[in-house]
Amino acid sequence: MGQGNAAPSAKREGAPIAALMRDTAGACPWQSGAPDRSRRYSCGDNRRQYGYGKGAGPMFTVETQSVEETRAFGERLAGQLRPGDVVLLEGDLGAGKSELTRGIARGLGITGPVTSPTFTILQVHEGGRLPLFHFDWYRLSGADELYELSMDEYLYDRGVSVVEWPSMAQDAVPETHLRIRIDAPADNQRRFQLEPAGTFHALDERALEATR
Ligand SMILES: Nc1ncnc2c1ncn2[C@@H]1O[C@H](COP(=O)(O)OP(=O)(O)O)[C@@H](O)[C@H]1O
Ligand SMILES: [Mg+2]
Repeated sequence: MGQGNAAPSAKREGAPIAALMRDTAGACPWQSGAPDRSRRYSCGDNRRQYGYGKGAGPMFTVETQSVEETRAFGERLAGQLRPGDVVLLEGDLGAGKSELTRGIARGLGITGPVTSPTFTILQVHEGGRLPLFHFDWYRLSGADELYELSMDEYLYDRGVSVVEWPSMAQDAVPETHLRIRIDAPADNQRRFQLEPAGTFHALDERALEATR
């Protein structure tokens, strides 16, 4: 369907979702079936169950001094992202979540415009090295709304999911993810704290930090 709003019926072709879930779920207890949605996280709280950072790098910080630097950081991050990765973007309005997502899209080779899907919840961008599933959960009242639209299934698909306002539907957040907390120490300055969780793959920090 190319770019545009993802309707619940617009599932991508290919392997059935259940198979994709098995591929990306690792040691999840529900790996042979549907996720247990009564749990806070798909596979429980990874910090307790698996140990924080196990199989993933420690938390580290990247700083930028302009929108362009933020986009360039997003581009470099995109180069290290893999099919099925989930990136959570946390930060106030104007923190730079959408600008970082624009960089990620550019880094994936997506050429079309990237706008915040605040009213559509999800925008699918195809045409790059990997599909980009750009979520904005700001208007959600909980994970149930995602489940009703089957939009949570994209989180287990083979694209890269980037989620703005993940706290609005925390129960739908997969156990393995990269959390990025953004704050603004000064007008044009942004600080990105990267926190891999679960079995998120290691990142090359040096390559990410090469800002200029
Ligand atoms: N270093 C920076 N990185 C990203 N955005 C910046 C930076 N400095 C200033 N800005 C401004 O902050 C705003 C970020 O907007 P946006 O990415 O839409 O935020 P969010 O999606 O978090 O609400 C833009 O107006 C942008 O021009
Ligand atoms: Mg935004």
